[in-house]
Amino acid sequence: MFVGQGDHNVEADTPASTRFPDGRPEQEQPKWRRDFPIDVDADEYGARRDFTKFLVLTSLAFVCGQFWIGLLSLFRGGPTAEQKIASVGDVEVGKAITFHYPTERDPCLLIRRSEDEFLAYSSQCTHLMCPVIPELQHDRLHCPCHRGMFDVATGRPTAGPPRRALPRIKLRIDADAIYATAVEEGAS
Ligand code: FES
Repeated sequence: MFVGQGDHNVEADTPASTRFPDGRPEQEQPKWRRDFPIDVDADEYGARRDFTKFLVLTSLAFVCGQFWIGLLSLFRGGPTAEQKIASVGDVEVGKAITFHYPTERDPCLLIRRSEDEFLAYSSQCTHLMCPVIPELQHDRLHCPCHRGMFDVATGRPTAGPPRRALPRIKLRIDADAIYATAVEEGAS
């Protein structure tokens, strides 16, 4: 209920939750606003509460995602069997090929940096697992999802959101055959 101006102080007499947003008394409000009064304080409270709820849920989803990725990495880091992944002649100098190790669900990159230097990494970005793309002319691996970058020599992140290095695949070269022997989890 709104009271008119007179001897009264309208602001003081009107409950805070039913004041009009411009502070003027009810008689001076346009008809549409009198017909559809908005409880401004309650409305702002509702908006703040919804925004807080949104922030909490978003943060929770992010934490769960990171936890899940951490769990996957943990299980992938166990002892693994040696597997032949390529022949030396399969990879040209300055190029990379894909393979899977230790299981068919684990995509990796085998990189040949020089005649004798081979490196291999998991090709799943340590941010949110998008596939990384070798850009060997720039000595880096590039994740196009959020512009993450990794140093090709170490697998360490150099730009963008990733914080952990790419898991490195240990190699053994025997004559013409290249074997993956273990997964070495990337350092932060
Ligand atoms: S998934 Fe690679 S930078 Fe986000």
